[in-house]
Amino acid sequence: MNSENARSVTLDQENTVEELTNPFRALDEEGAGTNPCAIVIFGASGDLTHRKLIPAIFALKQERLLGNNHPVIGYARRDKSDDQFRSEMSETLSEFGRFNQSDAEVRERFASELRYVRGAYDKIEDFRKLKKLLDDIALRYQTGGNVLFYLSTPPGAFGPILENLKKSGLADESGSCWRRVIVEKPIGRDRNSARELNKKIHDTFTERRVFRIDHYLGKETVQNILAFRFGNGIFEPLWSNHYIDHVQITVAESIGLGGRAGYFDTAGITRDMLQSHILQLLTLIAMEPPAAFRGEAIRDEKVKVLRSIQPYSRSDAIRNTVRAQYRAGIVDGQEVAAYVNEEGVSDNSKTETFVSLKLEIDNWRWSGVPFYIRTGKRLSRRVSQVDIVYKKPPLALFEQFGSAAPEQNVIGFRIQPDEGISLSFVSKRPGQAMKLDPVRMDFQYRTSFGGTAPEAYERLILDAINGEASLFARQDEVDLSWKLIDPLIESWSGENAAPLYYYSAGTWGPEESQALLARSGRKWRRI
Ligand SMILES: NC(=O)c1ccc[n+]([C@@H]2O[C@H](COP(=O)([O-])OP(=O)(O)OC[C@H]3O[C@@H](n4cnc5c(N)ncnc54)[C@H](OP(=O)(O)O)[C@@H]3O)[C@@H](O)[C@H]2O)c1
Repeated sequence: MNSENARSVTLDQENTVEELTNPFRALDEEGAGTNPCAIVIFGASGDLTHRKLIPAIFALKQERLLGNNHPVIGYARRDKSDDQFRSEMSETLSEFGRFNQSDAEVRERFASELRYVRGAYDKIEDFRKLKKLLDDIALRYQTGGNVLFYLSTPPGAFGPILENLKKSGLADESGSCWRRVIVEKPIGRDRNSARELNKKIHDTFTERRVFRIDHYLGKETVQNILAFRFGNGIFEPLWSNHYIDHVQITVAESIGLGGRAGYFDTAGITRDMLQSHILQLLTLIAMEPPAAFRGEAIRDEKVKVLRSIQPYSRSDAIRNTVRAQYRAGIVDGQEVAAYVNEEGVSDNSKTETFVSLKLEIDNWRWSGVPFYIRTGKRLSRRVSQVDIVYKKPPLALFEQFGSAAPEQNVIGFRIQPDEGISLSFVSKRPGQAMKLDPVRMDFQYRTSFGGTAPEAYERLILDAINGEASLFARQDEVDLSWKLIDPLIESWSGENAAPLYYYSAGTWGPEESQALLARSGRKWRRI
């Protein structure tokens, strides 16, 4: 289709796709193109606020995507004054985020506008105190009474916060003002607890006002999967079981627990990575083109993918899943301890730090194409990558010239690091003989676009302020993902439980993970 024929999809009579989905549209100097609102962070004394949220809001202000009418209020139980909070956040800004080298005066000016409310999460009086402050702030900063609440506490505190937001009237939308909530992961630890949490959320906020965050979706390279698939004409016709042999998704970390033993040892890698980030990646790779590029249409298609995966029976879960834990080993030239010897982990912990599995999507596009997934801690390298592995050509025409068996073409999405996309194919080696060698075409963000891409949290906070939900998980997505994950975790306990395997830190996981693919004559790609 030439550009004259290319249709821009109209969402309704007034709004074009561009207007509704691109929060980075033209803004004036004060960020007034973005909805004004106060941003309230619960759990503001925590790690996420320091490392990600405050630097992201600062970056948005530096980029003039947020302006003076976006005041920020931290809320937590710890006793501190506004000034203490401000000076901590000013230090945070010099350490984290894209603009940590910016002018110190600018960072301090931003910090000096921050407010801190000391309060409990389960005391209505403290929420009334917050309400009074927000009423004052609405007048002073012309926010129109709009408020974005960010739940950045451990999940145990979500319930009391939501309840008190309701009781205090803080969640009420009156007149034209809006009140929205961003909820951090994890949403539950199984299907039942996720349903309970979603019920609590809905007791206070309707689904339209809820933004369940999965920061993976805020990554440029993850969003680029959709741009690559649906913004180009040549790839989509090749995106099916007619041509694709299988798909590999690798999300590997070389670090261990990073001080999160308390959470991780009760969760494991399956809940931590597979249920959220990796199933999100899988749905973006596998979804059908949406009717329009906006929240509900995109999320409808993602949900259809999850519905097309049959949850495993116990025996299938045991057959198609490998769980493992790391032993001592060497990562990046350093000796590292076994998982059970990490601080905060019990000596006899059976928590999995690695999981690999095979999933199948039973729909017309993907029937017969296995999706292999692996994720783990203390692996050889930190890398997130999706490889679309194509079928071999039907004939080995060049073997007679001494070339190796035909290679499989691969489209590789490098999510991190070295963000980019590559296409592997074979080429004739120069010379008299008809010898073929594998080669690669490579697109790198760094060299094509330069500069630093926005952090995931920047994009997501801005989207929530603009009411754009495409990059957030809807309730049914969360529910269906747990429906798939629960049987895996259940198969690891009770009678005839699936074994827990072990791997040395610094490797790509246990032998059994290779065996999972070897059964069908496939193997994990070298990264
Ligand atoms: N950190 C990350 O990189 C990361 C990544 C993805 C998702 N998350 C999610 O984001 C949320 C916040 O993460 P975080 O790392 O910032 O958590 P955190 O540092 O453990 O906790 C944030 C704040 O919540 C309060 N808090 C801690 N334990 C609490 C408890 N048992 N009950 C009530 N309040 C408690 C504390 O503030 P006060 O005691 O002062 O009230 C603490 O400073 C969590 O849900 C986490 O799962 C974090």
